[in-house]
Amino acid sequence: MRLQGRRAVVTGGASGIGRATALRLVDEGAEVWIGDIDTAAGEAIAATSNGRIHFRHTDVTDADSIKALIETADAAGGLDILFNNAGAGGARERIDEIAAADWDRTQALLLRSVALGIRHAAPLMTARGGGAIVNTSSVSALGTGYAPIAYSTAKAGVLHLTKLAAAELARHNIRVNAVVPGFITTNIFTRHLDVPEDRRQLANQVIAGAAARAQPVKRAGRPEDIAAAVAYLASDDAAFVTGTHILIDGGLTIGTRASWDENEPSLFSALEAFQ
Ligand SMILES: NC(=O)c1ccc[n+]([C@@H]2O[C@H](COP(=O)([O-])OP(=O)(O)OC[C@H]3O[C@@H](n4cnc5c(N)ncnc54)[C@H](O)[C@@H]3O)[C@@H](O)[C@H]2O)c1
Repeated sequence: MRLQGRRAVVTGGASGIGRATALRLVDEGAEVWIGDIDTAAGEAIAATSNGRIHFRHTDVTDADSIKALIETADAAGGLDILFNNAGAGGARERIDEIAAADWDRTQALLLRSVALGIRHAAPLMTARGGGAIVNTSSVSALGTGYAPIAYSTAKAGVLHLTKLAAAELARHNIRVNAVVPGFITTNIFTRHLDVPEDRRQLANQVIAGAAARAQPVKRAGRPEDIAAAVAYLASDDAAFVTGTHILIDGGLTIGTRASWDENEPSLFSALEAFQ
């Protein structure tokens, strides 16, 4: 019960990583306000939470909407924790074909939303002596080949924003950190590829199978893997941790595949023929 009596806002809390995190924060004693565009799913979670989770329709591309969500949670007794997590795959086009409006839309969803969340939470946290902010980045911030370019650029921005905000807000006792998920089985992939709702479960099984073979740890990442890291960063166990990130990727970014997959040909295995 590390978060007993704390109030938290979780954006994108109606599904996947946000949903698992809302449930984890409640398990650790917090009261949670979910902000999401998916009203049906958000209300369903709130309805089964014994009053510990509240839902407010929120579009994180709209500054007033984010502000209203944060102020609602704060009005209940003071905001302690903000998890800036809402997101989607964004524009799929490559750099030599993307339209300016699609680039802007993706940055607004994945990067500006995080900046605005911090913007509106920080004064309220300052007024009550401090708080903890956690932002969702992605392994796509660290390298190529994981996600489209607009998404990956935004997620890299989230990492740097996390450091800069941590530096600016440390004097107010506000910590700012990020989580960097690898492949986590959620609906983000099927939504991004417009898989019809009735085929999403099957598609998610295929994705989970592929994810389990893509990294050293031989199982797909789960939303709960990320929720555990967020709960830690939000808690006093992380009181001396700010301006950094936790990579939760099953080893996906360790290095070349040949370093962990014995079936993958490497430079050395190619030279074995000459021994
Ligand atoms: N699943 C992964 O493998 C993975 C990896 C790295 C990073 N992430 C990031 O994790 C975060 C959560 O994604 P997820 O995998 O849980 O996906 P998800 O689709 O299960 O959940 C995303 C949630 O965000 C909500 N959302 C989308 N646009 C919104 C908006 N404009 N305003 C408010 N809510 C909005 C959706 O309705 C949904 O409930 C995202 O930022 C995503 O980029 C996911």
